[in-house]
Amino acid sequence: MEPEKGTANSRRKILITGASNGIGKGAALILAQALPPGSELILLCRSSAAGKAVIEVIKRLAPHCSTTLLLCDLTKMGAVKAAITEVTKKYDHLDALFINAGIGYAARRIETEDGMDAHFQVNYLAQFMLTLRLLPLLEKSNFGGRIIFNATHFGQIFWDDMQLQNDWTYEKAIFQSMAAKRMFLRYLHRLYRQIPQSRLSFIGYQVRKTVWSNQLNIIPKTMKMMASLVKLFGGFISVEDSGRDMLPLFLENETLSVEKSGKLITSKKNLFPEIAESNEILDEHAQEKLWQISLELCKDEETRNIATQIKSRTS
Ligand SMILES: NC(=O)c1ccc[n+]([C@@H]2O[C@H](COP(=O)([O-])OP(=O)(O)OC[C@H]3O[C@@H](n4cnc5c(N)ncnc54)[C@H](OP(=O)(O)O)[C@@H]3O)[C@@H](O)[C@H]2O)c1
Repeated sequence: MEPEKGTANSRRKILITGASNGIGKGAALILAQALPPGSELILLCRSSAAGKAVIEVIKRLAPHCSTTLLLCDLTKMGAVKAAITEVTKKYDHLDALFINAGIGYAARRIETEDGMDAHFQVNYLAQFMLTLRLLPLLEKSNFGGRIIFNATHFGQIFWDDMQLQNDWTYEKAIFQSMAAKRMFLRYLHRLYRQIPQSRLSFIGYQVRKTVWSNQLNIIPKTMKMMASLVKLFGGFISVEDSGRDMLPLFLENETLSVEKSGKLITSKKNLFPEIAESNEILDEHAQEKLWQISLELCKDEETRNIATQIKSRTS
């Protein structure tokens, strides 16, 4: 069979993490309506009920779009491995991956059954493993496979206390995982640029305005009152508007996608301006150090094998 040409109107297979709420849900709803028949959205969600509710909405809005619910709680590395196995057994390629799921506000530090800070694991490490293990499928895309990371430009790595056992705040936990994601995507970008004929792109995307997401149902009352005031003055966008902003990143051609690779961008008036990175994120030794620590923490032979194979292909 002739390979499908990579135009905006061709069908796609796209996996979105954290598709049950917020930015991930917005991306899923808008993509479902924009994708041509034969496309498929794979929605990674931890809650079956919440995932099915999104699928019901998609069925109403875009009956032509196939959806698959991939149940996975990112606080459990075992569940992440099971989800990866499910995807690699079922699909021969993926066209895009949206690394989005994340914990925002939390009242206290939560330690996962894998012994990690929940923000670190959910927002970063579990999705580090997911990304690495799905790269072989993304390399088979006819469109130039792309991985889009939901990221913000704040944050630093607390090298001496990465699991934040000594001095946890939810802000530190969120921003550390944002910094880790950005270092990871820069590192992957550098590796893949050294691989002949590489077609992948790794893009950090920061929403242009705060998104009125499920976080508003979780935060304490006082914070919610402040947020409601900000909303009155137009300080928020809806999950759907966030999805519309992002849509070109999933559909644009390979050349445009590759131009954005390795960058943190945002959206502004239908353009995607770059956001300048801090020196810590750009530090190649720090990126390598985080890569090694992350491989150790994953404790997964297959993730390590894929990492070794990628490096062996660099020229
Ligand atoms: N909202 C903003 O303006 C904004 C701006 C910049 C960055 N961010 C970041 O973007 C990410 C998403 O935020 P959001 O505002 O869209 O939040 P949200 O509405 O709370 O959505 C978060 C998504 O991640 C999922 N998730 C959380 N823990 C999970 C786990 N253990 N396993 C699998 N999925 C899990 C949630 O599932 P459930 O539906 O089951 O809870 C939900 O689908 C967060 O990291 C946040 O810090 C948000």
